[in-house]
Amino acid sequence: MAEPLVIKESTKFDKCRGAFFAILMLLSAFLGCIYVLMPLAPLIFLNPRLYRRLVDRLVGFWLVMPSALMEYLFGVQLTITGDEIDHSRPAVIIMNHRTRLDWLYFWSALFRINPWLLTSEKISLKGILKYVPGAGWAMGSNAYMFLERSFENDSKRIDHLIEYYAKVGDNYQLLLFPEGTDKCPRATGRSKTFAEKKSITHYDYVLHPRISGFVHIIQKMRKENYIDHIYDVTIGFNDSIVQSEVDLITLGVAAKDVRFDIRKISINDLPTDDLELGLWLKNLWVEKEERLRKFYLQSADSRQLDKLPEAKTFDYVDFIPLIV
Ligand SMILES: *[C@@H]1O[C@H](CO)[C@@H](O)[C@H](O)[C@H]1NC(C)=O
Ligand SMILES: *[C@@H]1O[C@H](CO)[C@@H](O)[C@H](O)[C@H]1NC(C)=O
Repeated sequence: MAEPLVIKESTKFDKCRGAFFAILMLLSAFLGCIYVLMPLAPLIFLNPRLYRRLVDRLVGFWLVMPSALMEYLFGVQLTITGDEIDHSRPAVIIMNHRTRLDWLYFWSALFRINPWLLTSEKISLKGILKYVPGAGWAMGSNAYMFLERSFENDSKRIDHLIEYYAKVGDNYQLLLFPEGTDKCPRATGRSKTFAEKKSITHYDYVLHPRISGFVHIIQKMRKENYIDHIYDVTIGFNDSIVQSEVDLITLGVAAKDVRFDIRKISINDLPTDDLELGLWLKNLWVEKEERLRKFYLQSADSRQLDKLPEAKTFDYVDFIPLIV
């Protein structure tokens, strides 16, 4: 037993579903930007706080759509265990990055944990995405953190954004993928070469985390007094893997059985020194690799992510009564 298969083909019916999803998402994001977000633009100067609140909520409400579509259109079922994420306190969420759809499944998970999390979660993502018409602009107005190829080059932008988060007075949970990129075959190959060159272990289920960006973000948030907790999230797939949003749209399929385990860690339990903080992350990833290995080596019909003894399992609530 190992990781489930990566889906590479699908039926015509599936493909129609993917196209439907793509059109709905792009069109609604595009129209939403033009008719809802743009008219609010003057508030950026007149009342920045109000602008921030309104945009966070409006984009958050829109996110209910993809969250629901993942479940009702693509048949995604989630199992979520562990600690509840508090939407009212500033935090960083770190997660392994198996596919480029992880944040999409995570929106559905956030909705199940507490729908308000959709309005307070901010994502750090690749800079190129801000140019996607509609969706990219919306992510920009929603104060997502866009990163370029190297964290060193990004440090100024990171600082500005964190200062901004702290200044507007809303408490966000920043989702960060320390691996920097999803674990696609190419990234896995690169990681393998890197591991051989440095004579370090090559991981099978995660990539080596990038230390400098993580340390920079945590230390900056500490300096701004804008972080209470870190949530360590592990994502695992039981039935299949769909690698990217391009596959989601062109093949029209998503993984159907997605598992999350969440562990809440107080910021005071993390080392204060840069080097030790980096080491802390490295060790966490060593542990994550082992947890995922254990998960994937179990037989598929009884597979479970390991969880702490006191961890709770989030009930499977139906979406529709939650919305109406
Ligand atoms: C970082 O910025 C410098 C100067 O702007 C540029 O030359 C370099 O290519 C950038 N590095 C990366 C990895 O993008
Ligand atoms: C995991 O997936 C397999 C194959 O799709 C399925 O047979 C099994 O029931 C799933 N396991 C659980 C615990 O749902």
